[in-house]
Amino acid sequence: MPEPDLLSLQLDHLSELQRRYDAALAAHGYDSLLIASGAAPYRYGDDQAWHFQGYGPFLHWTGLTGRSHCWLWVRPGRSPVLWLHEPEDFWHANQPLPREPWQDIVDVRPRPEPSAPPLPAPGRLAIIGDPALIADLPGDINPAGLLQALDETRVHKTPYERACLAEANVRALEGHLAARRAFLDGESEFGISLAYQRATGQREADAPYHSIIGLNEHAGTLHYQYYDTRPPAAPRSLLIDAGVRYRGYCSDITRTTAGPGESRFAALVHGLESLQQRLCGMVAPGVDYVDIHRKAHQGVAALLTAAGLVTGLDEEAQVAQGVTRAFFPHGIGHFLGVQVHDVAGKPTPPPADAPFLRLTRVLEPGMVVTIEPGLYFIPSLLDGLRAHPVGRHVNWSLVNQLRGCGGIRIEDNVAVTGEGGRNLTRAS
Ligand code: GLY
Ligand code: MN
Ligand code: MN
Repeated sequence: MPEPDLLSLQLDHLSELQRRYDAALAAHGYDSLLIASGAAPYRYGDDQAWHFQGYGPFLHWTGLTGRSHCWLWVRPGRSPVLWLHEPEDFWHANQPLPREPWQDIVDVRPRPEPSAPPLPAPGRLAIIGDPALIADLPGDINPAGLLQALDETRVHKTPYERACLAEANVRALEGHLAARRAFLDGESEFGISLAYQRATGQREADAPYHSIIGLNEHAGTLHYQYYDTRPPAAPRSLLIDAGVRYRGYCSDITRTTAGPGESRFAALVHGLESLQQRLCGMVAPGVDYVDIHRKAHQGVAALLTAAGLVTGLDEEAQVAQGVTRAFFPHGIGHFLGVQVHDVAGKPTPPPADAPFLRLTRVLEPGMVVTIEPGLYFIPSLLDGLRAHPVGRHVNWSLVNQLRGCGGIRIEDNVAVTGEGGRNLTRAS
């Protein structure tokens, strides 16, 4: 049972959401809004469905993941109505709904049918959700202007949301500790995944994203998606990027551990972690997130020089000539919320020097972001670097000693406060 304080914060969250939605509906000329939780499609030619999690705006209001065919009706100045799909079905179970105070604000009604409920006097109605489920309903389907305004309601997290994100961090950290222990005990990627799931009490399908667990070279694939069931003969490194969902809210944490005897790689991990902590320290209102990304490149350049991986090329030139991008090709992070890559991060497209950056805004209190620099040995990018004239500055023999460790990423989740930042991943 969650803390009474959290349940009370949830009531404030709902009032604030009502206020934000009322304003968005009024600005776009709608009298009411129907939100479809969604449903997982069946695999083509099969009778099995994909695993279902839920549509962002529905989770923003309810936090109820994994509930397909539910509908939430929002009207200015009126209590929201939640139709909870509870079919009579002897093949599957209906998830019980624990009694909590938010149900005094939201009118919860069971509904056996999966279809949209009939709405008495909806006025000018917008309906949002997966078009496959709502395309034929009578109302404006996914109106772009309104959708954009609703995405914006998710940018500044309420105190309830920040508390849920913090708890999602606490739980994921238990998993990361267990994963590290399993690695040092010689487990395989699969064994490490089991240790993580056991410690977090969450099966992987319900986590915010499929965990990325890479040993050795696999750590150099940014979103490595398989699990070897046997450990490598010589475990040199572990990169694990894994989170937890708590009441709909996601954590997104990455840790890298050097294997026994990998002192050179361990020093690089230590250096990247120091850089990552300095970047977390930059999170504050008024800071342009793109500047944190650029600072990360300068830091990676300094690290490449300090490690002896690049020689005879100053940091500025390393960044300008694309050396750092060969070692750190992704963005410094993104918004975090009911989706791991939360919405509304790119009102302006990323600059040319950061094409994969998912967040291009100036930070404001209430935003929650990830800070996740990396340094990888990615064969295709290293081949490109070696073929380029600037590649002569790279110490290839050292690269060859380290490439079997795959790469490093360190990722924390940081909330922007009134004065600075609060690192939710290192709060205790
Ligand atoms: N776990 C995916 C990411 O860090 O963005
Ligand atoms: Mn991330
Ligand atoms: Mn991640």
